[in-house]
Amino acid sequence: METHSFYKISPAENFGKGKQAQKGLGVALISYSRGCRISLVPSSESFCTSITWESLTSKTERGNFEVSMSETLKIYTYPDPVLRTSTEEVVDIDEETQKLIDQMAETMYAAPGIGLAANQVGVAKSIVVYDLTPKDKGRNLSVLINPEIVSSEGRIVFDEACLSVIDFSAEVARSAMVKVRGFDRHGRPVDIEAEGLLAICLQHEIDHLKGKLFIDYVSSLKRALYKKKLKKMMKKSKVSNT
Ligand code: NI
Repeated sequence: METHSFYKISPAENFGKGKQAQKGLGVALISYSRGCRISLVPSSESFCTSITWESLTSKTERGNFEVSMSETLKIYTYPDPVLRTSTEEVVDIDEETQKLIDQMAETMYAAPGIGLAANQVGVAKSIVVYDLTPKDKGRNLSVLINPEIVSSEGRIVFDEACLSVIDFSAEVARSAMVKVRGFDRHGRPVDIEAEGLLAICLQHEIDHLKGKLFIDYVSSLKRALYKKKLKKMMKKSKVSNT
């Protein structure tokens, strides 16, 4: 597991009420100016529209923000073999598991994404975090441990993407409704009857736990084209890093 330290900033009630954040902009500006990552995805539902390093610093100094250190994990990307590992059942939800869940959640929110499986951050454990709450409605984290699909029905096609498959999206056909069984982070059994985006998300994440990616469902031609594009991108980034 590789961790990145970053600061978590919670906006105070009187800041940017009713406005929506340019989250990516804020994150990018700060990471470039200070060499560290700042997440602007805290619990509050409102953010400022134009965040600059200067305004943020002054706000922070005036005490309008609560700043705390947090950690995100490295997200492994295709074609890293770690994404192909099958995860193991969690037998003991101990302190280490709780810490991993918190870090996975922070990593997902910072990315930002709507779901993350443990092997995407290099841990071969059967754990999934997800949150389908719209961005302006705050957070509502769900955690599933040892999830399995017990029944499925119908068919739905959706344009999917994945934090581990950069710069790629494709239509994937999945079951329209699924019943999923697993445990929450307190070890309590959970039964979910899901449809729509939740059904898609759960199937996508449970696939991850088995070492399967959504790109496996697309045509071999599309996959070959993506591999080619990826090679080019990797070459470019190597050149710009030297
Ligand atoms: Ni994914």
